[in-house]
Amino acid sequence: MQSKDANWWRQAAIYQIYPRSFKDSDGDGLGDIKGITQGVKYLKSLSLDAVWLSPFFPSALADGGYDVADYRNVDPRLGSLKDFDAMLKALHAEGIRVFVDIVPNHSSDQHEWFKAALASKPGSKERARYIFRDGRGKNGELPPNDFVSHFAPSAWTRLKNQDGTDGQWYFHLFAPEQPDFNWDNREVQLDFLKTLKFWSDRGVDGFRIDVAHALKKDFTRFNKSYDSIDSMKIAPNGRDILFDRDEVHEIYREWRKLFNTYNPPRVAVAEAYVPASRRTQYASPDELGQAFNFDLLSAQFVSKDFKQIVTTNLELARQSGSSSTWVLNNHDVVRTVTKYGLPKGTDYAQWLLDDGKTAKLNLDLGQRRARAAAMFIMALPGCTYIYQGEELGLFEVADLKHTDLQDPTWKRNVVLKPQRIFFKRNNKYVTGVAEIHLEKGRDGCRVPLPWTSTGPSFGFGSADAHLPQPIEFGTLSMQTQTKVKGSNLDIYRTALKLRKKLQTSEEFEWIKTGDPQVLHFSRKNGWRCIINFDGVDFTLPKGEILHSSSPLKGGKLPKNTTVWLKA
Ligand code: NOJ
Repeated sequence: MQSKDANWWRQAAIYQIYPRSFKDSDGDGLGDIKGITQGVKYLKSLSLDAVWLSPFFPSALADGGYDVADYRNVDPRLGSLKDFDAMLKALHAEGIRVFVDIVPNHSSDQHEWFKAALASKPGSKERARYIFRDGRGKNGELPPNDFVSHFAPSAWTRLKNQDGTDGQWYFHLFAPEQPDFNWDNREVQLDFLKTLKFWSDRGVDGFRIDVAHALKKDFTRFNKSYDSIDSMKIAPNGRDILFDRDEVHEIYREWRKLFNTYNPPRVAVAEAYVPASRRTQYASPDELGQAFNFDLLSAQFVSKDFKQIVTTNLELARQSGSSSTWVLNNHDVVRTVTKYGLPKGTDYAQWLLDDGKTAKLNLDLGQRRARAAAMFIMALPGCTYIYQGEELGLFEVADLKHTDLQDPTWKRNVVLKPQRIFFKRNNKYVTGVAEIHLEKGRDGCRVPLPWTSTGPSFGFGSADAHLPQPIEFGTLSMQTQTKVKGSNLDIYRTALKLRKKLQTSEEFEWIKTGDPQVLHFSRKNGWRCIINFDGVDFTLPKGEILHSSSPLKGGKLPKNTTVWLKA
């Protein structure tokens, strides 16, 4: 059973479940809530403190569930609220807490509020829950301004009125199926408090807040151009038009008051792509309490980058009064095994677009490095996040058939290119247009988990999975790896179990190694972690060897390896 310790989350190990790809209990090809309940034993074997569930709410799946049609329900394809309660109970019984993903910036266009807005007149209270504007041009045929969307190109889509004529435009930072809420509207604010209370009352322990930095916008500067988005480059002054505005924090202060009415208080972690110096406010104790540190997502397996990221983030956590989070993988990025296992300098966005044909993945090297990085972050003060399948050493599936791809970033980032091709049958040239995709999308890291070495969808379910798994997933399955000492899964299991036992106060100290390729730090209780990125075999200091991410070499620490010692 869970303790009432209000600080339980500070150094937790949290596993991200992407529900549609975790386990399919009813053979429809989609992972579901009962599948998670079936997986509780497996989750327990990973010594986790909590799981975070990516959205499982009713959704038209225009963006993998991040287009929510009903915030207080379960997608019927994934189960029911009753199934959710049973899952929560089963996880809690094993001491695993549960985070739910809240998507407050936008709903689905299938949300009853958006449908009501479409059925209502400009200026109505139904439209005031979203962001509607008249178009420019003689007949309103031009978008209200040039603001762009994350999923390209324009952030505006024009509606059809019910009589078939063209109507107003609405704003969406992501796909057109994801209209942005108007967060200046008290009704919207209150409805989200209701949602947070709904899940908290059911016993949910925490929340991951999607694009937490985008809720408040300044449309008084409507005519200013905003034709490209780079959230990391926005001025850190709280006055950007679309992101990280100072007023957003009022929302989270109100949420915190609600969280604190529970015992233990509900916790939250912000997904806020903002400059590091601005992250601390989202993470402060009177707001969400924690914010994701995504710096390692864009880092290579390079000693000096890891060192700088750790130093900066521990300092930021100290300033905010929070603890840091360490994240190597999630449902939006290329898996570390692939990132670290491709030849140096590979542009993986392009490699993915080339269906993985232009460079060969060194799977063993990628897995070694990914494990070393994982054991390194697990030993740091703060929270460790693990994305499902990371423990199995899964790689990014680069060669999914284009017809199988689901991600809107693949579907929407398209240009048409005129082409002239010789048409053999008619013996003449034909001119047409070809679609050129500019992004491959994120499906490659969302391919369902392999549970067994054989069988349809490798035990994910009794039928084919919604995204097909490659043949190699069989040998990477839980069943196969459970039997093998020293497998990726075995190493993760041991590390996570040990981590729980060794956990100690949040102090930390770098220890000089004399080799820039080798980083060494110690924790207060004598727990030491040493990683060798790309150096010569490193002679270990005295101490009891507790665990290593790959075998040592003649007692020394080879490159691409992490070891834990007790001094
Ligand atoms: C961030 C989520 O992680 C991503 O998957 C989603 O597409 C966007 N937010 C929009 O909700």
